[in-house]
Amino acid sequence: MLEKIHETADFIRNIIQDTPDFAVVLGSGLGKLQNEVEPIHVLEYKDIPNFPQTTVAGHTGKLIYGILEGKKVLMMSGRFHYYEGHSMETVTFPIRVFHLLGIKNLALSNACGGVNPDYNIADIVILKDHINMMPEHPLRGKNIDELGPRFVDMSEPYNKKMIATAEQTAAENNIKIHQGIYVALQGPTFETPAEYGMIKAIGGDMVGMSTVPEVIAARHMGMDVFCISVITDLGGPDIAFAVSHEEVLNAANKAMPNVIAVVKGLIRNYQ
Ligand code: HPA
Repeated sequence: MLEKIHETADFIRNIIQDTPDFAVVLGSGLGKLQNEVEPIHVLEYKDIPNFPQTTVAGHTGKLIYGILEGKKVLMMSGRFHYYEGHSMETVTFPIRVFHLLGIKNLALSNACGGVNPDYNIADIVILKDHINMMPEHPLRGKNIDELGPRFVDMSEPYNKKMIATAEQTAAENNIKIHQGIYVALQGPTFETPAEYGMIKAIGGDMVGMSTVPEVIAARHMGMDVFCISVITDLGGPDIAFAVSHEEVLNAANKAMPNVIAVVKGLIRNYQ
């Protein structure tokens, strides 16, 4: 595995010839952020050695290196989910590669279901913490000491300074933003009313099927992490509206201008 990560990082380093300031991962329906980047190199996943391939609609499969708000960014359009059948090693592979490229900052985005009664569809939420309920841990197995320690501190999964920077941008742009706790489940089913109730009962504000494995891998390697979520549907024990992937994409679309403004502000102002 380590050899593959090195091989992929060497391949990308040879092309971009620089160290990006930020890696950015785009979630379901949030691909439009890629249009904001002035591209220097665009690599399709299929042309990158050892890179996994995406299988979900709304996830295209491109790695874009370019300039966003004056900073060098490496943007992943299309991520890998555990529910697709990928192993946790595959899901976190790109994050491992980003670390070997020397990238210190990671900004993630996702679409998720809200269970906090203060949330509305198309609201945006900065993650302040998470609860990992995925059935497999990305660090299970022999530890790769070159990448990070066996036992990983998770007292600040989401970087407080990045959160403050993003909050400031949201305030300056009059964007309503929440801070919440994200619960990660395997999927691919959306939750039953009782399961949404459980998410709320254990202290979650929202639920989704991604992000947490990547955050764990990034923290393992000492990267600083930021994540922004779009609430694409609302769930709860008393809410019995159906959820579809299409609705998720529509809500993500609606929230897109706010997501773009906050991520751009973070990248512009974070040092
Ligand atoms: N649950 C899990 N994942 C999701 C949801 C949800 O309600 N909405 C978007 N992704």
